[in-house]
Amino acid sequence: MMGDKRDIVEVSDAEALADAAAQRLLACIEAQPDRTAICLTGGSSPKRLYQLLAEEPYRGRIPWPRVHWFIGDDRFVSLDDPLSNMGMAKRAFLDRCAPPDRVHPMPVDAATPEAGAERYAAALKTFYGADHLNPAKPLFDLVLMGIGPDGHTASLFPGYPAIEETSRWVVGVEQAHVAPFVPRITLTLPTLAACDEMLFLVSGHDKRAILTRVLEDPTLPAARARSRNKTTFLVDAAAMPERKHA
Ligand code: 6PG
Repeated sequence: MMGDKRDIVEVSDAEALADAAAQRLLACIEAQPDRTAICLTGGSSPKRLYQLLAEEPYRGRIPWPRVHWFIGDDRFVSLDDPLSNMGMAKRAFLDRCAPPDRVHPMPVDAATPEAGAERYAAALKTFYGADHLNPAKPLFDLVLMGIGPDGHTASLFPGYPAIEETSRWVVGVEQAHVAPFVPRITLTLPTLAACDEMLFLVSGHDKRAILTRVLEDPTLPAARARSRNKTTFLVDAAAMPERKHA
């Protein structure tokens, strides 16, 4: 059963959003006695959060050797390309803080996005220790997500077949629906759902209209992406939908 409930948590601005997300991430890591798996997101929204993780007090409090960092989707470009999601996370904090073998980028050196998707799925299955997701055993402790201008999340675009995928863990997307128009690799909805907590980061006035739509239209990818357990939208005041007054 998917957790149907979505919590919306409002914070004042982008800086408060990054700080609140960092606190949740730290609390999630501290709640695990052992290995922790975090699935990062791309785009511009998480950048400040990632920078904060490399600064005190977060840097000193994260037990780096026991935290594994994955990515929910990436552009099919090399890690040093400015468009690379994992490349951005590496430059913002991972390269300075995380042991290299705890960082799990998508294989963008594969021949095609689909081949890269298969390799990433195999790596996730090895990490998980099984070929099938067991609802009682989450793959990730925390999955971070963003909302794109068309209501996409990860690289799951509205109307694309990838959004309906129920068996594959990871798929290649040859053509993006919005810029940047580069092929992508993305986790599918069931894989993203296999987490204790899914946390959407939504910041800035430009997100207000699409967040309003996502909260009203259950068919949009960002509305369909749910944790099996807890789903939270962390939203700053500029992105908050207008309140309807009685
Ligand atoms: C990607 C992202 C994507 C992103 C949203 C929001 O690779 O494009 O993973 O899902 O989270 O498009 O992007 P912004 O934060 O840049 O608005």
